[in-house]
Amino acid sequence: MSGPLISLRDVNKYYGEYHALRGITAEIGAGEFFSLLGPSGCGKTTLLRAIAGFEDISGGTITLSGKDMKGVPPNKRPTNMVFQSYAIFPHLSVEQNVGFGLRKSGMSPSEKTKAIGAALEMVGLGQYGKRAAHALSGGQRQRVALARALILKPKVLLLDEPLSALDRKMREDMQVELMKLQREVGITFILVTHDQEEALVMSDRIAVMFEGEIAQLADPEVLYRKPATKRVADFIGVMNFLPARAGDGLEVAGLGRVDMEGVYCPQGDVSGACSVGLRPETLSLLYDGETARARETEGVIDEVVYYGDMTYYDVRLEGLEEPVRLSMRNMVGRDVMTVGQTARVAWDPRAMVVFPG
Ligand SMILES: Nc1ncnc2c1ncn2[C@@H]1O[C@H](COP(=O)(O)OP(=O)(O)OP(=O)(O)O)[C@@H](O)[C@H]1O
Ligand SMILES: [Mg+2]
Repeated sequence: MSGPLISLRDVNKYYGEYHALRGITAEIGAGEFFSLLGPSGCGKTTLLRAIAGFEDISGGTITLSGKDMKGVPPNKRPTNMVFQSYAIFPHLSVEQNVGFGLRKSGMSPSEKTKAIGAALEMVGLGQYGKRAAHALSGGQRQRVALARALILKPKVLLLDEPLSALDRKMREDMQVELMKLQREVGITFILVTHDQEEALVMSDRIAVMFEGEIAQLADPEVLYRKPATKRVADFIGVMNFLPARAGDGLEVAGLGRVDMEGVYCPQGDVSGACSVGLRPETLSLLYDGETARARETEGVIDEVVYYGDMTYYDVRLEGLEEPVRLSMRNMVGRDVMTVGQTARVAWDPRAMVVFPG
């Protein structure tokens, strides 16, 4: 097949007066790991349910493998959905849960047993078939839900916050496993999450949504380094915003004057009052004997947050009301600096993203 596997064209959805999806347009390729990322209520679940066919749309088109899905019920679409509350049956065994979707498949019992075994192997639960589903951990239950969806061999697996019920460690493990699984089975995954780190780690591409609209659709690195708007920049990771004025050069509060050339302006040329975005890892503290590769400014350390591998510093710069946040990798032979210490801060205009306003 040529062309995208899924094509969303100007998809709109109203719940009564409420405009929940506002002209969503995107194309998703076969084998892609695609995420919908956005704050609560932005329409992620609505869009996923519309793709699955659980929700009629009010306007626009959704095509799967080139076929318009209008009026096609969920069970006739090449999609399958894994829900947040994974809705496995606790009184059934793991095997029975996984085989549930095969009831009407017309497969013989031996074919079913084989398919169930293969699906359980895929999610690393090969030994757990006879176990009662209620006697599983949260992460194992989530795998059962995955196996149950995968056994139907969908072209697209739709995952609505599948990991949000898990604790942090389990969630990180499952993130890696899901990525591996997706590569192995090669099918398209569409993941809904409001966890930006999760989206960055797992996805080939991410659609960032606010209020029913896609604010930016890009791969993780572009999203992080070249956010399209201030709001996207603020939503993805940590970003310092420094007041600035653009004209003949850029006058940045706390840092000074820089050339406009080399700074990135995602919304086109800016003039007058604007805002300069700088990620914490693009600023660093200079230790004795070190020199800045680009520019250097003096500041006073206001706050130190030690993370083991990293330390976050809030540093006050003259002419700036708010301290800037920077992050340093902790290294052997390099002491963590302390609050109140005067420090030299290295920064680089090439890391600046300039937003109007
Ligand atoms: N059946 C419905 N009737 C009316 N409004 C609805 C319905 N379902 C969702 N909405 C509204 O549409 C908006 C988008 O809801 P949706 O569930 O898609 O958000 P979400 O991005 O998945 O949020 P969350 O991260 O909290 O799950 C919300 O304001 C919600 O209240
Ligand atoms: Mg939701």
